[in-house]
Amino acid sequence: MGMRFEGIDAKLSIAEEGEIKFYTYSPAEFSTGGKALLKSMPVFYNPIQEINRSLTLLAYRAFQNSKQQKNSEESFHILDSMAASGIRTLRLAKFLDKPFSITANDLNPLAIHLIRKNMELNHLSESIYLTNDDCLHLMTNSKVKREFFDIIDIDPFGTPNIFISPALHAIKKEGLLAITATDTPVLFGVGKNACIRKYNVFPLRSTFSKEVGLRVLLYYIAKHAHPLMRAIKPMLSVSFDHYIRVFVQIIKGEEAIRTNIQNTGYILWCAKCDWRGTTDLNILNVPHQCPNCGSKLDFGGPLWIGEIHEDKFVQELNEINLEVPKEVIPSKARIERTLQRISEEISFPLGYYDVHKICDKLQISVSSMKEIEDAIKSQGFNFARTHVEAHAIKSNIDIESLKAILIKLAQKST
Ligand SMILES: C[S@@+](CC[C@H](N)C(=O)[O-])C[C@H]1O[C@@H](n2cnc3c(N)ncnc32)[C@H](O)[C@@H]1O
Ligand SMILES: [Zn+2]
Repeated sequence: MGMRFEGIDAKLSIAEEGEIKFYTYSPAEFSTGGKALLKSMPVFYNPIQEINRSLTLLAYRAFQNSKQQKNSEESFHILDSMAASGIRTLRLAKFLDKPFSITANDLNPLAIHLIRKNMELNHLSESIYLTNDDCLHLMTNSKVKREFFDIIDIDPFGTPNIFISPALHAIKKEGLLAITATDTPVLFGVGKNACIRKYNVFPLRSTFSKEVGLRVLLYYIAKHAHPLMRAIKPMLSVSFDHYIRVFVQIIKGEEAIRTNIQNTGYILWCAKCDWRGTTDLNILNVPHQCPNCGSKLDFGGPLWIGEIHEDKFVQELNEINLEVPKEVIPSKARIERTLQRISEEISFPLGYYDVHKICDKLQISVSSMKEIEDAIKSQGFNFARTHVEAHAIKSNIDIESLKAILIKLAQKST
C-alpha cells in the first residue's frame, strides 16, 4: 500500500487545525487563485470548513452528554462516512469523551492511506476504524448486520440527497444525523428544475432564500424517514458561507410522524411587497393573491415550516464552546456569535426581512440596527437578528408597518 502512493505523498505538506497537525495536499496549490478548490486535489481538504468541523465537535459532545446522562457506560458509535483527510475524525477523537468509536470511511483509497498517516502522526489510533467503501454500501450493510450508529456524518461534494435514505436505515433509534449540502444555488431556488429533480420540492427564490434552503433539506430528510416509521427533530440548522449544515435527531413512532406532517407545508411570498405566509399541505387552502397588495403570490414547497433548532441543544453547545479554548475550537468567537443569534431566532416566525434589500427597493437610506430594533419594539412587535444574514431581522411585524418604520427613520436622519 505504501509504495503505491509514494509519488503522490511527495506533494503532501503539514497543516494544522484545532489541536491536530496533519498531512494534506496544499489547498493553495490545488485552488484557483487561492479560492475555489480544484477537483484535481487528490484528497479533499477545505480550510474554510473549519467552522463546520468545529461546530460538529461541539454538537457531538452535546449529543454525547445528553445520551451519557442516560447511560454512562454505553460506547458511542460514530460514522464519518466521507472522511477525506480524516481531519474531522481526528479532531473528534481528541475532543470527545470516552467511550466512543469512530468509523472513518472514504471511497477514495488515497484518502484511507492519508487518514492512516494522519492517525500515526497524531498518535491517535485507539477507537478509530478505517474502511474504504462506498458509504451507500457501508450504511446499507450496517443495517443488514444490525450494527447501527449513534451519529452519522454526511459531508459530500454537492447534494447529500442519495445518502439520506441509507443513513436513515443505519442510524440508531434516537441517533443524530449531521448533513452538509453545498449545492446552495439549488436549495436557494436559483435553478427551479434542479430543486424539483433533486429534492422533489418546488423551490422559492425569495428575499429569505437562505432559510428556505434549510427547510427544503429538512423536509427531504423527514420525507425519507417517514416510510421507516421514523421522524425528525431538527436540533440545529445553520447556513454558512457557501453551504448549509443540519443536525437532526431521529425519533421513532407514528405520533412523531404526525407532528412532522403538521410541520410540513408551503411558503407563500409576494415578490412585489415582500409579504410572506405559510399554509399546510392542503393545496385547496392556498391563496393565490397577496392579502397585502393583491399581486399574484409565489410559492415554495412542500417543505419544513416548523422550528429548525432545539433551544436546549443550542444552549448546551454554547456552554461547551465557552468552556473550550480557542486552540481547540479555532472559530470559537464566530461560533459564539452564531449560536447567540440562533438562540434569539428560536420561536420567531418563519423567514426574515433583509433590511438592506427593503431600503434599496424603497430607495431610502438604511438606519442603524439599534434604531430599527427600538422602533419595532416600541410598537409592541418582537425583534431578533438571524445568523443567516447580517442585514436581516426576524420579527412578527407585518411588512407595511416595517416599511413605515424604515421610511420614518430614514426621514429623521436627513
Ligand atoms: C467534501 S469531502 C469530505 C470532507 C471531510 N468530511 C472534511 O471534513 O474534511 C467528500 C469526500 O467524500 C468522498 N466520497 C464521495 N462519494 C463517496 C461515497 N459514495 N462513499 C464514501 N465516500 C465518498 C470523497 O472521496 C471525498 O473525500
Ligand atoms: Zn404583496
